[in-house]
Amino acid sequence: MSTVKKPLEIEAPQGRLGVLLVGLGAVSTTFIAGVEAIKRRLAEPIGSLTQMGTIRLGKRTENRVPLVRDFVPLASINDLVFGAWDIFEEDAYEAALHAGVLERDLVNQLKNELQSVKPMKAVFDQYYVKRLNGTHVKQGANKLELAQQLMEDIESFKRAKGCDRVVMVWCASTEVFMQAGSEHETLESFERAMRENSTVIAPSMIYAYAALKSGVPFANGAPNLTADVPALTKLAMDQNLPVCGKDFKTGQTLMKTIIAPGLKARLIGLHGWFSTNILGNRDGEVLDDPESFKTKEESKLSVLEYILQPDVYPALYKDFSHVVRINYYPPRGDNKEGWDNIDIFGWLGYPMQIKVDFLCRDSILAAPIVLDLALFLDLAQRAGMRGIQEWLSFYFKSPMTAPGLYPEHDLFIQLMKLKNTLRHLRGEELITHLGLEYYD
Ligand SMILES: NC(=O)c1ccc[n+]([C@@H]2O[C@H](COP(=O)([O-])OP(=O)(O)OC[C@H]3O[C@@H](n4cnc5c(N)ncnc54)[C@H](O)[C@@H]3O)[C@@H](O)[C@H]2O)c1
Repeated sequence: MSTVKKPLEIEAPQGRLGVLLVGLGAVSTTFIAGVEAIKRRLAEPIGSLTQMGTIRLGKRTENRVPLVRDFVPLASINDLVFGAWDIFEEDAYEAALHAGVLERDLVNQLKNELQSVKPMKAVFDQYYVKRLNGTHVKQGANKLELAQQLMEDIESFKRAKGCDRVVMVWCASTEVFMQAGSEHETLESFERAMRENSTVIAPSMIYAYAALKSGVPFANGAPNLTADVPALTKLAMDQNLPVCGKDFKTGQTLMKTIIAPGLKARLIGLHGWFSTNILGNRDGEVLDDPESFKTKEESKLSVLEYILQPDVYPALYKDFSHVVRINYYPPRGDNKEGWDNIDIFGWLGYPMQIKVDFLCRDSILAAPIVLDLALFLDLAQRAGMRGIQEWLSFYFKSPMTAPGLYPEHDLFIQLMKLKNTLRHLRGEELITHLGLEYYD
C-alpha cells in the first residue's frame, strides 16, 4: 500500500514571527545573539536541523535530498523578532554579558540588536524558585489577573514589533517539583485555582495559559510541569494550537539518548550508569536547591528506563543502577563538565566500562533547539496541527505525550518520527527503510 498522500494545506509564512521568551538568561541571550549574528552572516546556524538539516525523499536512487527549510514552508530567520520577560531589568546585551557564554567581542558587535530586547515585568513567586529573588515582577490581585497582564503584554509586543504571528518558549528557571492534581484537570478547575491564588498554579502555568488564550503556541524548555496538564493540553486543542515540552535535550542526556540505544541495539547489558556534572551558571545555582533539582532529576532519570525497557529485556537491564548528580561549582560558569561512568556487560556476562567526559557548553547546545522549536511550532500552527506535538520529542528530555502513551526517548527514532512528520505534511512517501524494492 502506498503511503503517499496529498500535501496538507499550510498557510504561507508571511510577515514577521515574534518569539517571546520567558526568562532572559543564558539560553535566551545565546539564542537571540546567535540569530542576530546569523542574520548578519557573522556565523552559521550550526546545530539547527531547520537551517542545516536535509531530508531524503523517495527512493535512494532518486537523489532527492533538499534542505529541510526548502522542503517545508518555515519562517525565514530574517523575519524573527524577539521579546522577553525576566525578573531582572537587564536588557539582552547586559544579560548576555552577565551570562558569559559568548565572547565579549561578539556581544559588542550585536549591541544594538541586543539592547533593543528589554524584558517585560515577570510573573514570579519565590516559592517556586527558591534561589532567585527578583524585583522586576508584576503585581496582581490573583493569578488570573496576572495572566491577563501577560496577555496584554503579548498584544502590545505584537503591535510594537508588527508581528503577524507569535510563539512562546519557556527558557526561565526550573521550578520546584509538582505533580498534576484535580485543579489541573479541567479549564474550569484551573481558572478557579488561579482566582483563588492556589499554590498548585505555578508561574510557568500562568504564562502557558496566557499564551494559549492569546492564540500563541507554547514550548517548555525546562522540566516544570507547566503545560503538561489536562486543562492546558485541552485548551491547546480547543484553540487549535500546538504545544510541546519538556526540558531541552542537551549535554549529558543528549549523550545518554545517543549511547543507550546503541547498547540496546547490540544487546549489551547494563549494571549501572553514574552521571555527575559540575555547572556554575545561574541555572546551576537554581538547581542547587533540592526542590528544583528534584524536577530536573525526574526528567533526567526516566530516559534510560524507557530506552532500555527492563521489562522486555530483564536479563540485560533488570535492576540497573542509575544515579544523576548536579553540583553547583561557580568557577565553571556555563561551561559544564559532565562525567558518565557506564558499567556494561557482554558475552558470558564479562564486565566492561565506558567513561565519558563531556566538556560541553550548555547554552551553545540549547540555542539551536530554541530556534528549531520556534520555527516548527509556527509551522505546526499554520498546518493546523494542534495539541501535543510528539514529533518534536527529538528536542526534549521528557517529551510530552498523549495520556497513557509512553514517551519515545531514542534520539534516532525521534529523528525518524520528526522527518516522517515533515514528509507527511508534504504528501511525500514515508520512509520505512525496508528497501526490498532495490533487490527485486
Ligand atoms: N542550557 C541548557 O542546556 C538547558 C537544557 C535543558 C533545560 N534548560 C533549562 O532552561 C532554562 C534556562 O536555562 P538558562 O541556562 O538560560 O538559565 P538562566 O538562569 O541563565 O536563565 C533563566 C532566566 O529566567 C529568569 N526567570 C526565572 N523565573 C522567571 C519567571 N517566572 N518569569 C520570567 N523570568 C524568570 C531568571 O531571572 C533568569 O534570568 C532552565 O530552566 C534550565 O534548566 C537549559
